[in-house]
Amino acid sequence: MIAAIGAVASNGMLGLDGWLPWDIPEELAYFEETVAGAALVIGRLTYESMDVVPPDSFVVSNQPGLTLLPGCVQVDSVEKGLLTATATGKDVFVIGGASIYAAAWPYCQRFYLTRIGMPFAGDTLFPESIPLERWKVISDVRKTYRERKSGREVECRFLQYEQPHPRQLPAGDPSPAG
Ligand SMILES: NC(=O)c1ccc[n+]([C@@H]2O[C@H](COP(=O)([O-])OP(=O)(O)OC[C@H]3O[C@@H](n4cnc5c(N)ncnc54)[C@H](OP(=O)(O)O)[C@@H]3O)[C@@H](O)[C@H]2O)c1
Repeated sequence: MIAAIGAVASNGMLGLDGWLPWDIPEELAYFEETVAGAALVIGRLTYESMDVVPPDSFVVSNQPGLTLLPGCVQVDSVEKGLLTATATGKDVFVIGGASIYAAAWPYCQRFYLTRIGMPFAGDTLFPESIPLERWKVISDVRKTYRERKSGREVECRFLQYEQPHPRQLPAGDPSPAG
C-alpha cells in the first residue's frame, strides 16, 4: 500500500526553518511508529532535516549526484520514488515535505494526517490542492498533549483518510536509474 503521513497546524502550516513548527514528542513518536519498517519517499529538503534515515528511503531531487546516507537512494521524480519504493515489497510511506505531498497524493491510498488544534508560525503550507474533503475518514482519534515551545495543551486529531480510487503508477523500470 502507498500512504502519505504528515501533520498540519490549524492555520495550514507544516514547516518552519526546515523543521516542524511545533514540538510535540508524542506526535513525532506516532509518526516513527507508523512508518517503522516501511520504504519511504522523501523530498530532498525534508531528508536534509532528518538525523536518522532508515534503509529503503528514496530521496527525490533533481540535483545530480547527491551524496546520501547509507540505505538512501536518489530518484529524480516522485513517480520513480514510488515505483522503486514499491519494488522493495514493503509498505510505502510518503513523508513529505509539501512539494512531495502535492505530487504524490494521487497515488496514495491513505493519508495519515494529524490535525494540530492551534495555529503556528511557519514558512511551508500543507498543499491546498490535496482534496482530502473528498476522501473517506476511516479513523479519527483525538489526544491532548503539551506543546513544548508554547507550554500549552493542544489537541492532536489523528486522522486516516482513504482515497477511493488512487491513480495507478505509470509502468516503468522500478530501478532508481530506470
Ligand atoms: N508537518 C509535517 O508532517 C512535515 C513532513 C515533512 C516535512 N515537513 C516540513 O516541510 C518543509 C519542507 O517541505 P518543502 O516542500 O519545502 O521541501 P521538500 O518537499 O522536503 O523537498 C523539496 C525538494 O524536493 C525535490 N523535489 C520536489 N519535487 C520534486 C519533483 N517533482 N521532482 C524532482 N525533485 C523534486 C527538490 O529537490 P532539489 O532541489 O534537490 O532538486 C526540492 O527542492 C520542512 O520545513 C519540513 O520540516 C513537515
